[in-house]
Amino acid sequence: MCGIVGYVGNQEAAPILLDGLARLEYRGYDSAGVAVFGNSGLKVAKAKGRLRVLSDQIQEGRAIQGQLGIGHTRWATHGAPSDVNSHPQVSQSGKIAVVHNGIIENYAQLKEFLVGHGVPFTSETDTEVVAQMIEYFYDGDILKAVGRVLHRIEGAYALGIVCSDEPDRLIAVRKDSPLILGLGEDFNFLASDVTAIIKHTRDVIYMEDGELAELTQTGVRCYNNLLESVEKEVFHVDWEIDAAEKGGYEHFMFKEIMEQPEALRRTVFPRIKDGEVIFEDFGLDDDYIRQINKIYIVACGSSYHVGMVGKYNLEQLLRLPVEVALASEFRYMEPIVDERTLVVVISQSGETLDTMAALREAKRLGGKILSIVNVVGSSIARESDVVLYTWAGPEIAVATTKAYSTQLAVVDLLGLYFARRRETMTEERYGQVIQELLLLPSKLEQVLESTQDIQYYASQYFNHDSVFFIGRNMDYALGLEGSLKLKEISYIHSEAYASGELKHGTISLIEDGTLVVALATYDKLFDKAMSNVVEVKSRGADVLALTTKNHAEEMGKTANGMITIPTTDELLLPSLGVVPLQLLSYYIALMRGCDIDKPRNLAKSVTVE
Ligand code: M6R
Repeated sequence: MCGIVGYVGNQEAAPILLDGLARLEYRGYDSAGVAVFGNSGLKVAKAKGRLRVLSDQIQEGRAIQGQLGIGHTRWATHGAPSDVNSHPQVSQSGKIAVVHNGIIENYAQLKEFLVGHGVPFTSETDTEVVAQMIEYFYDGDILKAVGRVLHRIEGAYALGIVCSDEPDRLIAVRKDSPLILGLGEDFNFLASDVTAIIKHTRDVIYMEDGELAELTQTGVRCYNNLLESVEKEVFHVDWEIDAAEKGGYEHFMFKEIMEQPEALRRTVFPRIKDGEVIFEDFGLDDDYIRQINKIYIVACGSSYHVGMVGKYNLEQLLRLPVEVALASEFRYMEPIVDERTLVVVISQSGETLDTMAALREAKRLGGKILSIVNVVGSSIARESDVVLYTWAGPEIAVATTKAYSTQLAVVDLLGLYFARRRETMTEERYGQVIQELLLLPSKLEQVLESTQDIQYYASQYFNHDSVFFIGRNMDYALGLEGSLKLKEISYIHSEAYASGELKHGTISLIEDGTLVVALATYDKLFDKAMSNVVEVKSRGADVLALTTKNHAEEMGKTANGMITIPTTDELLLPSLGVVPLQLLSYYIALMRGCDIDKPRNLAKSVTVE
């Protein structure tokens, strides 16, 4: 939920930290801070508000000199956003500074213990407890002091720590919150993710839970929680810095919407050879695939919505029960999972705490875990039995777009792969879907050409304060995503309803001028969708319909406005249908003057429960 970065090297640390934080700001942006060690000791600067406030305060970093430091951009959990609650948090003597992503669950007991020993506290944060505890145990070796504290703190944490008595060492610690190390010639980094450091190095180490690392200008050493040295593999990141920059677009979200055809090509094309879906080094053998008796899809937010579409598609392709669960509910609902249950975990970041916890619960119950993840080497990827990466490239905007599309494509590929082995599809149908999958990126390009129409509708509707998305089956699942996209970035209240449910209560909310986005892409249920359009129109609704080109004429007779998508195989309709909904939300948010890439109260990666 927060972004952390640390640098030790032969250059001025503060500007490097600020640049890294700017790339991590999507993780949290209510306050920011840095601590840098230089000739005049450990200097800390922090400020409530966006990173720009801090940057101005320290003159883009020129005001704080030193070649070692840590930085933080915050999404508040304990203590409101304020200068004093911002990180770094420092110990009472000012000797130890800590940046933290995560939550220390037993901070209240630890604080009581420290207060009992005369330690004064200045902030409301759980993180200050860590800084004070380290100082309490410090006897000249910061690594040892941190090691002692780790056995006392509970919860999730990625920590960056500096101590002014040992100004050539940075300490990194990780448990249930992401942290990577970036390796260079005369410098080393710690960071919440690769985007913060890709400008400087592509060689990274992914830290495991319970590990510590000691970084100096010339090297990095990793340890387990008993402070025994551990060997770590160095990974080479192969994407370019441009992928994490706006490249001339006003917003990351728009750039990422536009990148979808290419992201789909990267995700799908290498996995189709000679008309067959192939997964190289796939960890599930054909016997297991034939024995699966249930698929459970577990995810949060938009990834959950992918699961909702996935349920319709997989059940149709495999004739196998597919349950979809919100990861935050899964572990508390005593799920029925056994060794023949395949648990499909979907996550862009691979770090969502609820999803991670659900994965562990499913594993404990004996399920096999297949994850669909975008961030290579992330926690969820590492703890899964099998990983299918989405290859969408870095997604920076808080509102997900290209990750959703590529996740959906991977679910479809998975369905086809399994259907082949379980013999639940005819050759002909299999061939048709493959062909349409290959055409998907170019059809998506056609959709992206109609941005002007969508802009027009956004200008008509941007000042509405309540919107309903209605649809049936896959169109309902699509509506859930359309509705989330709209509310998260434009702050307009919106809800998605299965059209058939309207008459059981919701229709009482429809009155003159209520905007209803009617999703009618699903050929089989088009007539039902039309009836619902008529139903809400007759109650005064303003209907904006989304349908396929072949139904445009009929829909055009009734709806007030209409967006069309090309026809494709019914399984793939949500992959095309989601794009106009993303664009509609984007333009509406733009016209309302919202902060599109960083919507209020949200963060890209949700590493708290
Ligand atoms: O990284 P994940 O896919 O696990 O994230 C799950 C949700 O937090 C995420 O999809 C969220 O709903 C997006 N902001 C929606 O745009």
